[in-house]
Amino acid sequence: MAYDYDKIKGSLTRKAIAARPHSMWRFRELLPVAGEPTVGREVGYTPLIKADRLAKRLGIRELWIKNDTVNYPTLSFKDRVVSVALSRSKELGFKTVACASTGNLANSVAANAAAAGLEAYVFIPADLEHGKVVNSLVYKPNVIGIQGHYDEVNRLCAEIAGKYGWAFVNVNMRPYYAEGSKSMGFEIAEQMNWKAPQHTVIPMASGSLLTKIHKSYQELTKLGLIDESKWRIHGAQATGCSPISAAQKAGLDFFKPVKPDTIAKSLAIGTPADGFYALRVMKETGGASDDVTNDEIREGIRLLAEYEGIFAETAGGVTVGVAKKLIASGKIPAEDSAVLCITGHGLKTLDAVQGHVGSTREIKPSLREFEAIVAADKGKSN
Ligand SMILES: Cc1ncc(COP(=O)(O)O)c(C=O)c1O
Repeated sequence: MAYDYDKIKGSLTRKAIAARPHSMWRFRELLPVAGEPTVGREVGYTPLIKADRLAKRLGIRELWIKNDTVNYPTLSFKDRVVSVALSRSKELGFKTVACASTGNLANSVAANAAAAGLEAYVFIPADLEHGKVVNSLVYKPNVIGIQGHYDEVNRLCAEIAGKYGWAFVNVNMRPYYAEGSKSMGFEIAEQMNWKAPQHTVIPMASGSLLTKIHKSYQELTKLGLIDESKWRIHGAQATGCSPISAAQKAGLDFFKPVKPDTIAKSLAIGTPADGFYALRVMKETGGASDDVTNDEIREGIRLLAEYEGIFAETAGGVTVGVAKKLIASGKIPAEDSAVLCITGHGLKTLDAVQGHVGSTREIKPSLREFEAIVAADKGKSN
């Protein structure tokens, strides 16, 4: 994507941005649509939360949560990329939109296409979480479940995209789609009072979000909206699908494709399209990466819930779990400040934590029975 940064410098000032509505489109000069956005005008500007309790628990001076679990309308950062891809698809005259998805993208394409009156086809692995499937079906798109993992879904979609004249948001529309991810970084920098964070921890599937957050800090620096500073970009993956973090840890420039086997299904891409670039960004910025097991993912989800009151999906558990490891190993120094990108809501992946978060204690509607519980608890704590 080519932007005329000299021209943009004239209009995109801190003051101009502050006067605009609270959405990702505050940064519209840096997003690739020709006219005004027509799909997802309300997307973005999610909260940046100062997470003091979690900071203390993880042993770091300052921690922030960029909370895209409450993104509009489908509770994940994918609303950002879809807003750009569908606005651009409409400008180009497409009537049918489609995607290959690990779940969240399907939800967002389905919802935003419904609102825009576009026909939608979403292609997903057939064994996705129930919540992700229902969250697509309800908008009445064509949902095609493929018997295979995401990389097979993606391969089929490349064939379909070549044959049908549809806007495939992450195939033939991918350059537009990917740029939408920059908005998460623009917002972080603005919410940090116009600074790039020292450390940003980002979950990786294809690796695209990670590369685009880096690009967002670069663009804001180029435009003089933030001062030159050093930032480190760190990547997070699940142990059951860690082609990028494995390569990073081994000091390699290229990843080796894997067959995914993890509860973090939204991140289960064994052949990540932007893996090479994600590795380069981590290397250039002095960042690191790591991976976490299914149990560590659940622990990450619980930590975020119990310490900050935020219920994230498995990708969020991956990010918190990896951040915990990077802080413990000193790769993110304890005296520094870090932002964790929490990218999707936990209500969509209930299956992952069910049976691991305790259960209700059932009683008859009787004060005596309730007081027996209180007395038992008191006994335990003494
Ligand atoms: C919740 C969530 N977080 C992070 C990602 C990673 O995105 P990317 O493919 O840009 O690396 C995805 C991808 O589907 C996702 O659904």
